[in-house]
Amino acid sequence: MSTPLVDQFTRARSQIDNDFFNQGIAAQPASPPPLPQVGPQQRRNGETHYPRQMANHEDLALLRTARDLRQHVLLGGPPGCGKTASVEAAFDSLFDPATSPGLQTLIGTAETTVGDLLGTYLPDRTPGVAPGTFTFVYGPLTIAVAYGLPLLIDEITLIDPGILSALYAVMDGRPHLLLPGTDIPPVPVQPGFCVFATYNPDAPGSILSEALASRFAHHWQVGTDWDLALELGVPPEIVQVARNLDGQRLDRNNGLLASPQLRDLLIFRDQVPQFGVEYAAGTLAAKAAPENQDQILEAIQMIYPMASITRLGGRYGR
Ligand SMILES: Nc1ncnc2c1ncn2[C@@H]1O[C@H](COP(=O)(O)OP(=O)(O)O)[C@@H](O)[C@H]1O
Ligand SMILES: [Mg+2]
Repeated sequence: MSTPLVDQFTRARSQIDNDFFNQGIAAQPASPPPLPQVGPQQRRNGETHYPRQMANHEDLALLRTARDLRQHVLLGGPPGCGKTASVEAAFDSLFDPATSPGLQTLIGTAETTVGDLLGTYLPDRTPGVAPGTFTFVYGPLTIAVAYGLPLLIDEITLIDPGILSALYAVMDGRPHLLLPGTDIPPVPVQPGFCVFATYNPDAPGSILSEALASRFAHHWQVGTDWDLALELGVPPEIVQVARNLDGQRLDRNNGLLASPQLRDLLIFRDQVPQFGVEYAAGTLAAKAAPENQDQILEAIQMIYPMASITRLGGRYGR
């Protein structure tokens, strides 16, 4: 129904909506400028690590700033896409191995124990120490807390949630780390301690509990940078195949739980001149989970028709 009164009301109403909307836009604070760049880093294995984009910042700069603010960072993504490498690249060069234990690391599994995090009593074999003496050897969490270092926990979602509660108190800001069952006094948490963790959401047994997720101020979804793969000399045809397969994996409709990522492509690149393109392509398919092998081999055969799963044959030269 349209009457002058209703029209007037509608106009007034839409003016209020507009004002609110405009105010809402105007109320957005301006984005801060990008953080100062860290730049390409030399990895311990001699490789160059190239920083990536996260929002309008460089990922390595953001990781370092997160540490300064003790805002823990969780990176999720398929194996081999660059999660661990980014954290190592952000922190390795900050510490001189001669004077600092540097970035602390732990690879999580379903069998990880509280002792793997905090430390355990081990037989002390130092010359002059009485046989049968046990000494408490600090675990990576205790070293990171005591020396104010970043701690990288790879595959954190494979660790039993009950075990992780040993970590939560210090992540939440408790000023001391307790070492239950020892006579060691609480260890003060030093500035510089911060947790960086990676996980693969599709790994069997991966559990990202709310308790775990909520402790991380930053959640990054990581995937392979296909342009970087090209820049690193991976043949464009295989990059395209991997990229297509990755799209199918992300679709989640066709049962593909894993597909070749940057690590696999770099191995392919290195194998081609050594062993030939068909062998390298066969390896790429052979490393896939059995239920995905046919699908991945089929995609690879579109560009390398002679590729087949790398199966060991009979006696050489027969
Ligand atoms: N930004 C990058 N620059 C150069 N090489 C990279 C980069 N990210 C990853 N890589 C390469 O890819 C490999 C796999 O990355 P990694 O971090 O180990 O994977 P993830 O932890 O996700 O399983 C690394 O060993 C490195 O050779
Ligand atoms: Mg990793």
